[in-house]
Amino acid sequence: MSIRIAPSILSADFAKLGEEVRAVDEAGADYIHIDVMDGHFVPNITIGPDVVKALRPHSKKTFDCHLMIAPADPYLEAFAQAGADIITIHPEAGPHLHRSLQTIRALGKKAGVSLNPATPLSVIENCMDLIDLILIMTVNPGFGGQSFIPLLDKIAQARAMIDATGRPIDLEADGGINPETSKQVREAGADVLVAGTATFKGGPDSYAQNIKMLRGE
Ligand code: DX5
Ligand code: ZN
Repeated sequence: MSIRIAPSILSADFAKLGEEVRAVDEAGADYIHIDVMDGHFVPNITIGPDVVKALRPHSKKTFDCHLMIAPADPYLEAFAQAGADIITIHPEAGPHLHRSLQTIRALGKKAGVSLNPATPLSVIENCMDLIDLILIMTVNPGFGGQSFIPLLDKIAQARAMIDATGRPIDLEADGGINPETSKQVREAGADVLVAGTATFKGGPDSYAQNIKMLRGE
């Protein structure tokens, strides 16, 4: 299983985001993880579609947009047009998860579902055919720099659900990922690791080494 690293630009220097995206791209990032927060679904406000659009020319890597907004439906098209490759939503963000996933697919994008620590995997059982990425939150969403919640059984169960489909669905762990917790979630079956604090610490000269360590190299 190939491990992909998705730096969360939430921990980048917001005054020079384009430069930061180029730096993690060159340092070996596979995806660029963009945390979108609305101050309503989560207690923090971050990035909107215009910022995604402005960043798009800075990297050809997969833009992995994690929408922590409710409702999400009215903004799916804007994020698609801004250049998102994967659009991930939370099931609590709208009344019809299946329909929202259909909408993302109809926009020509990969569809992800993000599960909060308390949200069970059973929520996605009946729409696996519409899912390209399952994000397991290993912190409560809203902020970078929080401590890892060891939901390793949940990750292992998600891995089994994915393997049963026979389709290449990404299994992403997000929150509190550092070289040590990275190993734990990889062993549980995650293959995409989001890391904000652990990627950006030490500044641009450290990014390549930080990413290597997250990969377990
Ligand atoms: C939290 C976000 C995460 C966050 C991860 O709501 O979804 O992507 O930026 O940050 P770290 O890696 O610092 O825990
Ligand atoms: Zn995230």
